[in-house]
Amino acid sequence: MITGGKPLFGEVTVSGAKNAAVAIIPGVVLCDEPCRIENIPNISDVTVIANILRDMGAMVRRVDKNTLDIDPRPINTCEATEDSVRKMRASYYLLGALLGRFHKAKVALPGGCNFGVRPIDQHLKGFQLMGASNDLINGAIIELDASASFHGARIYFDTVSVGSTINVMLAAVKAEGQTIIENAAKEPHIVDLANFLNSMGANIRGAGTDVIKIRGVEYLHGVTYSIIPDQIEAGTYMAAAAATRGKVTIRNITPKHLESISSKLREMGCEIDEYDEAVIVDATQRPLNRVNIKTMPHPGFPTDCQPQFVALLTTVKGTSIVNESVWDNRYQYVSELVRMGANISVEGRLAIIEGGHLTAAPVKATDLRAGAAMLIAGLVADGTTDISNISYIERGYSDVVTKFQSLGADIKKVYYPDNNAATTA
Ligand code: EPZ
Repeated sequence: MITGGKPLFGEVTVSGAKNAAVAIIPGVVLCDEPCRIENIPNISDVTVIANILRDMGAMVRRVDKNTLDIDPRPINTCEATEDSVRKMRASYYLLGALLGRFHKAKVALPGGCNFGVRPIDQHLKGFQLMGASNDLINGAIIELDASASFHGARIYFDTVSVGSTINVMLAAVKAEGQTIIENAAKEPHIVDLANFLNSMGANIRGAGTDVIKIRGVEYLHGVTYSIIPDQIEAGTYMAAAAATRGKVTIRNITPKHLESISSKLREMGCEIDEYDEAVIVDATQRPLNRVNIKTMPHPGFPTDCQPQFVALLTTVKGTSIVNESVWDNRYQYVSELVRMGANISVEGRLAIIEGGHLTAAPVKATDLRAGAAMLIAGLVADGTTDISNISYIERGYSDVVTKFQSLGADIKKVYYPDNNAATTA
């Protein structure tokens, strides 16, 4: 429940990156010793992937809400097919990790966000070139088998793909010989995974560029590794600061990861001050102006901040155009914004936004970042907005209500146990 109209002021600390954590935790499966992972975000996606490893036999101990000790040695199966695996997309990283360790893998196809088709043909192309056959069992389980011969390969991805780059990297770190990934994704979480694997003794060069070279190694030793800050969480708070015309300091960030977001906000008229590990967004100095945005693979504008910036642009006079060039259907949340009075028309991959006025309405989160967009819309709308399906938001944003409350937002989490009197959490 959010009562809008209050500019955000104050400071917020960003947590560890979800999309790094959900790749690094499966990466521990490849290790020959126990590992400690720090700065893990306190989100349900992390709980799900940690429980899957535990179900497979790993010793997983939560040291505190942001630290996990994992001993992968007791893992005694190359299968991850129970229902929890379908709960999130990133569970498919177990394909690469289990193939890398056991030269076989059997993993249930992921669920995750429901925007457009989410094929895995490039993942399978990489695994096949490395010697794995793959079968789709009753439409829901992928089975890989490279027991006959598993080796490095030269793989060119037809489309830049974060998941494919991560999955092949995981499979390749212990594969015989060299693997070259061309047209690789360059997101910060790919570099973070490579740094984690190299700290265990892997041999990965070029992560963060188009070409990644991996030489297989025999043994990976245990490490303590701290995950990078979440650039998308940071971008979400930056968009919220701008939408409410407030002034917010966002701490524990890497400014370089936010370049495209900061430059777009400057273009709109925000003052952005960058420090070593913090950024200040000041939207109090002047009216904001309309802009165009095209989402691109990193270092372009991140698609995972597209919904949040569309919500921001509904508050800015003039016509803004957003081009979602990564996903073929990532505007399902727009109908929810329109219920709040937003003037947006969607033409294929383009959203045309006429800035105007938002009023509160009961809306729902249709996926993780769409939920963040609804939250931002609620912060600026007249009246009290009721957002349902907030489990989507909690998949990727730790302590989101507390963090926004600390910035002065009038927001609270409410439970509807049996659809009548709401109890406040
Ligand atoms: C990751 O998804 C992220 N998820 C997504 O963030 C993010 O939107 C996306 O990367 C792009 O940055 C995680 O990291 C867990 P892709 P992923 O493979 O890996 C096509 C969030 O909000 N493609 O880079 O699935 C695909 O259809 C989530 O945190 C193929 O055609 O994205 C898309 O058009 C939502 N074949 C494009 O590539 C394939 O085999 C980019 O997808 C794989 C992908």
